[in-house]
Amino acid sequence: MSCLVINGKKKLGGEISVHGAKNSALPILAASVAVGDECLISNCPQLSDIRATVNILRGLGCRVAVNGSQICVNSEDLSYNEIPDTLMRELRSSFIFMGALLSRTGRAVMCAPGGCEIGVRPVDIHLLSFRQMGVQIREEAGRIVCEAPEGLQGAEINLSFPSVGATENIILAAVRAKGTTYIKNAAAEPEIKDLANFLNSCGADINGAGGSTVVIHGKQKLHGTDYTVMSDRIVAVSYLAAAAVTGSELIVKNAFPEHIGTVVSTFRQSGCHFEYEKKQIKITSPSRLNKMGTIRTMPYPGFPTDCQAIIMAMACVARGTTIINENIFESRFRHVGELNRMGADITVTGRSAIVNGVKNLYGSCVKATDLRGGMSLVLAALCAEGESVIENTEFIDRGYEKAERDLSLIGADIRRE
Ligand code: UD1
Repeated sequence: MSCLVINGKKKLGGEISVHGAKNSALPILAASVAVGDECLISNCPQLSDIRATVNILRGLGCRVAVNGSQICVNSEDLSYNEIPDTLMRELRSSFIFMGALLSRTGRAVMCAPGGCEIGVRPVDIHLLSFRQMGVQIREEAGRIVCEAPEGLQGAEINLSFPSVGATENIILAAVRAKGTTYIKNAAAEPEIKDLANFLNSCGADINGAGGSTVVIHGKQKLHGTDYTVMSDRIVAVSYLAAAAVTGSELIVKNAFPEHIGTVVSTFRQSGCHFEYEKKQIKITSPSRLNKMGTIRTMPYPGFPTDCQAIIMAMACVARGTTIINENIFESRFRHVGELNRMGADITVTGRSAIVNGVKNLYGSCVKATDLRGGMSLVLAALCAEGESVIENTEFIDRGYEKAERDLSLIGADIRRE
């Protein structure tokens, strides 16, 4: 078990580079199953969730070669369409294999991620959509068995909520279905556009991804491709926030303002300035941040729930009160208790957190509770007085490739023990 030891109050500066997007690489790797040919996928972040996905691909009979951030998947000889529970439970997004396997073999068997029962959240939207495409679904010994004996049929699907995972799963199921599929009220996250771009480069016919209606004309066959995964917008925001909480000037490379518009507006409200150049963002931060009003997490292009904990770390040390409403996930405030241990003044009522900014946070021993909550503790520690020890770093490692290496290169006093 490792921990991160951070001595705060160090100014940051220079350049930091953002790695590939986990939330793009995961569905794209799963999508390679639907392709049935060789795909060379570059800019994959080297993270535990990616390794777990590679294990699933190998378990299904794909040949996979990993060379740093480049992953070559050949799914020609795919031999299974069932995923063992142990592999499924390693990552929530493993459910994305459902659409890819249905597309390729007309059958897929797996447990719900996190062991949820069939029909209830959080995969009800996925399953209802598959049913509309002619998939028969039953539960057998706690596993979800999906079969489309007559093949998948295009359908008009109106999502009750723009679920990211469900939109991706339907796209995957639809790329080789008979006829045309319309997804209305689709999630519009940039990672969905990235998945569609990957599949289109394999010969798929997907239009409108990144908007609220996606139209997929099914194709009988797809072919291999070389594809580069987009940059991770949440990692970009995390590094911008590292500069913001330390009053620093920083250049974040491989960062794209068009992916983080709402977040940039919130940063601007806090007094940060931005300069954009091709593929990079320069941030200049004030010595003390201003309050940021009321922030509401919403589906894209609204404020991303994945940036909620990150912006909270900024609000902790800002002048005045910021209110954060979490509208996507019910219990995504588990980092609050840990931030309060560092001297923050946050009160949670239902889905709202009231953050009264304090002048100083203090180094403490705290525990990461989840991936982005863990990053909020890193950010708090970077601006806290004294030494912080952050335990449970495996959560942080799920989304950041060696955060301590990159942050120490820009001046942070951070080490892993
Ligand atoms: C994806 C992202 C995650 C991000 C989230 C919201 C990946 C790998 N993960 O997760 O980082 O926080 O989008 O932007 O891309 N829901 C249902 N029924 C369903 C599906 C979802 O009720 O069938 C609910 C969920 O419980 C949650 C909300 O809808 O409350 C959003 O979920 P969804 O958009 O599906 O998120 P994920 O795809 O799981």
